[in-house]
Amino acid sequence: MSDQHAPFNPLDPAHLDDPDGPLGAARARCPVSFPRPGLACVVTDDDVQHVLGHPETYSNRGNFAIDGELELPAQLITMIDPPEHTELRRRLLRWFAPARLRALRPEVERIVAKALAGLPPTGEVDLYESYARSIPSSVVFAFLGLPEPVWQDLQNCTDVITERMPEPLIDLPEMGKMIAALTEVVKRRRAEPPARRDAIDGLLHPQDGEAELSEVEAVTHLMQLVLAATATTRSLILNTVHSLLATDQWQALARDRSKVPNAVEESLRHDTPLQFVLRTTNRADSVGGTVIPAETKVLVSLQSANRDERTWGADAAEFRLDRDAASAHLAFGRGIHTCIGAPLARLESVCAIDALLGVYPSLRLAESYRWEKVRAPMMRRPASLRVVLA
Ligand code: HEM
Repeated sequence: MSDQHAPFNPLDPAHLDDPDGPLGAARARCPVSFPRPGLACVVTDDDVQHVLGHPETYSNRGNFAIDGELELPAQLITMIDPPEHTELRRRLLRWFAPARLRALRPEVERIVAKALAGLPPTGEVDLYESYARSIPSSVVFAFLGLPEPVWQDLQNCTDVITERMPEPLIDLPEMGKMIAALTEVVKRRRAEPPARRDAIDGLLHPQDGEAELSEVEAVTHLMQLVLAATATTRSLILNTVHSLLATDQWQALARDRSKVPNAVEESLRHDTPLQFVLRTTNRADSVGGTVIPAETKVLVSLQSANRDERTWGADAAEFRLDRDAASAHLAFGRGIHTCIGAPLARLESVCAIDALLGVYPSLRLAESYRWEKVRAPMMRRPASLRVVLA
């Protein structure tokens, strides 16, 4: 099925702004569609898992761009295939070991406490600007060992870049600014001995026969971590608060905060922060009986898989705090490219929501508030979240 018959068409801005209806229709009527020649969309849980589980057929080249490839100075880890991907992933994973994350927890708590202290005791605020926006960027900058004076600039650049994806990025002034700021850091840190034992040391000072990375490569990997960590986790925090308030489950959760991790998992399923990823076929493949030709761009809808009624039941569209096994969602991807920052995203989101519940157990949506999706095609979160602090 092709052209105007594709129930979900990622080339139609209206479908990206309000995807649930078109994705539901695609799951029911046309699980593999071709919105135009050379572009396929895959939407059911089974088919999404099939694509993500076969990296030899579905290459990551061209990921994050519906047309062609994002033109970047070096390849990001999410855009390369084995064997290069295997080595780089092993190298980055060292910095996400459980012991490192445990050691980071006090810093995460400090960042959350600072954001919380910036909120007034009562009154109406936009929780995105005044709370959710700053936490993930501060956490990832601290985690990477980036100096605090560059945080604000980097945060502004990240906002602009992630809102533009999957459009070409190379001409964005913010891209140039971000690369310049990170190059400065890399130059300075390369000249120092590897004493801090943070992620930047890991990239600049190879261990156990690892290859030496060029300056451009080190900067590109840092940029990937910054971009991957910020808009996604902000969305997760904001979506969770929104769903809890919109379904009147906030106060119940405030009375039993042990369920905060369940709320975060159900939010990842219900409102998948990174809506889709992209693959390119190395060869033709049959998916649920439909042949996807070689050299086809494949949009893999994580959001749709996470709402698939055949996996999640007739109430898949509902946000339920008590859903069994909500963490089986695909919000962090699946297979060899599964998100390496998932434990960090979970840690900071649980911390941010738990702290908010503790201080504002009677938080509510502002009277006039209406949900509107942020204008960033790949992301899902409300553009703002006006709440009454109480
Ligand atoms: C709620 C927050 C997050 C969500 C929803 C999310 C989502 C994802 C998804 C879906 C992928 C797979 C991409 C693909 O298969 O093409 C991915 C990969 C990745 N994520 Fe995350 N992410 C989040 C937070 C983070 C954080 C906090 C970091 C780092 C500090 C991070 C770093 C990465 C990296 C480096 C990859 C590439 C892994 C690879 O290609 O092997 N992410 N993420």
